[in-house]
Amino acid sequence: MVNLHILLVLGISLYAYWMGIVSTFKVPKPTKTQAKWLDYEVGAIVHFNMQTFNRYMKPGHVVPVDTFNPEELSTDQWLEAAKSFGAKYILFSIDHFSGFLMWPTATDYKYSVKYTKWRDGKGNVLADFIKSCRKYGLEYGYFYSVHNNWYMGVDNYTTGVPATQEYYKKVVEEQMRELFNATSPYKDPFYIWFDAGIVPKVSPDIGPIIRELASNSICDECPTFSGNQGLHWVGNEKAFAPLPQWYAVPKGKCSEKTPDGKIIQGSPYGQLFCPANCDTVIREHFWFWQPDTEYSVKSVRRLLSEYLTSVGHGCTLILNLNPDTRGLVPEEDRKAYEKLGKAIALLYKDPVKKSFKPRLKIGKKKIWKFTAFRSLNGSVILMEDIERYGQLVMKYELKLKTKDGWISTPELGSTIGHKRIHPFPKDLANKTVSAVSLRINKLVTKRRSIVLREVSVYNWNEAAKPGKNLI
Ligand SMILES: *[C@@H]1O[C@H](CO)[C@@H](O)[C@H](O)[C@H]1NC(C)=O
Ligand SMILES: *[C@@H]1O[C@H](CO)[C@@H](O)[C@H](O)[C@H]1NC(C)=O
Ligand SMILES: *[C@@H]1O[C@H](CO)[C@@H](O)[C@H](O)[C@H]1NC(C)=O
Ligand SMILES: *[C@@H]1O[C@H](CO)[C@@H](O)[C@H](O)[C@H]1NC(C)=O
Repeated sequence: MVNLHILLVLGISLYAYWMGIVSTFKVPKPTKTQAKWLDYEVGAIVHFNMQTFNRYMKPGHVVPVDTFNPEELSTDQWLEAAKSFGAKYILFSIDHFSGFLMWPTATDYKYSVKYTKWRDGKGNVLADFIKSCRKYGLEYGYFYSVHNNWYMGVDNYTTGVPATQEYYKKVVEEQMRELFNATSPYKDPFYIWFDAGIVPKVSPDIGPIIRELASNSICDECPTFSGNQGLHWVGNEKAFAPLPQWYAVPKGKCSEKTPDGKIIQGSPYGQLFCPANCDTVIREHFWFWQPDTEYSVKSVRRLLSEYLTSVGHGCTLILNLNPDTRGLVPEEDRKAYEKLGKAIALLYKDPVKKSFKPRLKIGKKKIWKFTAFRSLNGSVILMEDIERYGQLVMKYELKLKTKDGWISTPELGSTIGHKRIHPFPKDLANKTVSAVSLRINKLVTKRRSIVLREVSVYNWNEAAKPGKNLI
């Protein structure tokens, strides 16, 4: 009896505590830059470094600088490739494990383009890259791995030798100042990504420098110092965002790891806006170009499906580019990017209904009718206004009307976020569809209604045409 009583009291207090959280919960919102990043939906990353030229590099390998010699390098061609699949920003691996730098650093560091015979030591891939980004209208960003630097003998943030550890710490910090200071030609990147993160007190002390010089850049895997501009990695390299997909994490946990080394993902009552990026490769599964791997270029069907499990699940897609030893994106990859861009465009080509800023009462169904069509396939796209309200929707029901009645879409009780793409479920194939209904059942706050950014229905018949093999 005593036990029951205790349980009851405990239950009531837990309930009260929970209701307290819900009613006082302040929904976190993105910064302007984070909101822009979500809106971009698709980005690119370029892996191009010593590994491109040295196939079998192993941890610790230091290869001669002159193996870097991309005689036909054209960063314009990279940008054309990225633009062809709709990327709005592009990241570049300016330092990646080998320690070789893509700009002629003035710091005390002799492993960069400056020490190669390529363009007589006067080449600067990073400067070319930024120039091309400006020319093609894409935002630029950097991927830099601090945790490994084989040139300096760094493995997991340490050299194991006090003297070289000091040098490593000092030179990395100087390179950060060189990149981001107010007179630097490389300043103001849209996006910075420190591969595998930064460990305070172990890594070079990058945090204060980023806070001082690059606080407008969004910072991926920058646990303690991203401030409100953080992002984290989704945890797989398959462009797959698990559902539900929440953008906010507990305070101080943006890109922090759990004791077993997994990055902490979002949760409904997280206090800090820190969404996930969904990255993947074009060649399965190579980040850097390697000879004789053309067979591994993904099919457009597979890439489109990855678009649907990333962008379609509220995440953003980051697709890799792997320029070859010429310094050019190979032809097979270029074709795949272009096909993907066209395939994505097909998904948005035939809207049958568009409703902007609809207001929905919580728990009350809203129906949109449209001109009936026989669907091979199609989609319902839902968007929340994240910039204005933060991420609110926790549970909803979506149905489509056919002559045989209303048919539910799968994955109910999930999140929407910036965008959710619901392909028509299998059992809608070839049925005539004439209306969509949506009921929002639960939010993370006690608001009685919500204004969504958009509810749209698309006809995908062209993409789903027999023989096209796209979806
Ligand atoms: C790498 O370094 C971090 C920080 O010191 C440590 O927590 C982690 O256990 C190390 N990992 C390995 C594989 O040694
Ligand atoms: C700023 O960057 C430029 C070029 O990257 C460099 O020449 C200059 O020394 C840097 N200034 C500081 C204070 O680091
Ligand atoms: C529409 O395409 C999606 C994505 O490939 C698929 O999961 C779904 O079953 C398709 N629906 C129909 C009606 O064929
Ligand atoms: C739907 O119609 C298309 C084209 O008419 C046909 O190829 C396909 O097999 C049909 N699908 C189903 C599930 O009946």
